[in-house]
Amino acid sequence: MIIETMEKKYHESIGIYDSKFTVKMITKRMSVLEITSLSDYQQYLYNNGDEAYELSKILLVQYSSFFRSETIFGLIKEAILPAIKLRKNPGESIRIWSAGCSTGEEIYSVAMVVDEFVRKDNGTQLYTLFASDIDAKVVEKAQEGEYYFEQLGNIKLDYYHRYFKKMGSIYKVDENLTKKIDFSVHDLLDKRIKSPTNAIFGHFDIILCNNLLFYYSEDHQAFIINRLLQSLSPDGYLICEGASMNRFVKNQSVAEFKSHADVYKRKGEKNF
Ligand SMILES: C[S@@+](CC[C@H](N)C(=O)[O-])C[C@H]1O[C@@H](n2cnc3c(N)ncnc32)[C@H](O)[C@@H]1O
Repeated sequence: MIIETMEKKYHESIGIYDSKFTVKMITKRMSVLEITSLSDYQQYLYNNGDEAYELSKILLVQYSSFFRSETIFGLIKEAILPAIKLRKNPGESIRIWSAGCSTGEEIYSVAMVVDEFVRKDNGTQLYTLFASDIDAKVVEKAQEGEYYFEQLGNIKLDYYHRYFKKMGSIYKVDENLTKKIDFSVHDLLDKRIKSPTNAIFGHFDIILCNNLLFYYSEDHQAFIINRLLQSLSPDGYLICEGASMNRFVKNQSVAEFKSHADVYKRKGEKNF
């Protein structure tokens, strides 16, 4: 009934989300509103457009943080970037996409690591970073690159000094870093477009799709993973933290790069 109300009255397809997750989020809303029966909640939802917005928002959890997984960022820095660099020809760019970037912490973490890697190399390696999310509001926030001190907890001191500028109570990402990132609105369930339109052709060396797949039913997870695999370069890496990927990638063209790290790699490279 709640799914139907959302679809018919508010044109929001919440049936695509994992059912256990949806029930958990509806229960959370009911407890906030002190409503004890589902039928009372459904009635409330029907009469209040604002609640439809609140429910959609809570279903689209947008929490993010800098360097959220130490393991993943360690692997990117120590193993993945050096391997990608080795097979790039002069003038070829390293292409990285954060799919479901929320407010930007993930892509800025990647940008800091890549920038440091390039500087410590000989500074000539080109790179192109893309970040997208279904929600235009978070994409705008990400592009602003403004954070509070409490959000900077995982950032190393030298990154903090190099890449942030304090402006009153706000810490702003250095605009040289922001300029390196192409931000856009993109729905990973869009059947027509596989990757952000500015990326033109996919061919990404790394795609991060962390902490997103858990929202969706198995069919939708499989759809997204397939699309991401199609956008990966032949030797590319797919990083999907928080998803049990193994069941989707059996017999696919990728294999676990590092067990339990949610990092997968297209098969067929010599150094694998
Ligand atoms: C929990 S946040 C994760 C942010 C970041 N990847 C991280 O791991 O910290 C998930 C993000 O995925 C976005 N999202 C959910 N469904 C999406 C879809 N179909 N297409 C693109 N983004 C989506 C949400 O708007 C949200 O910002």
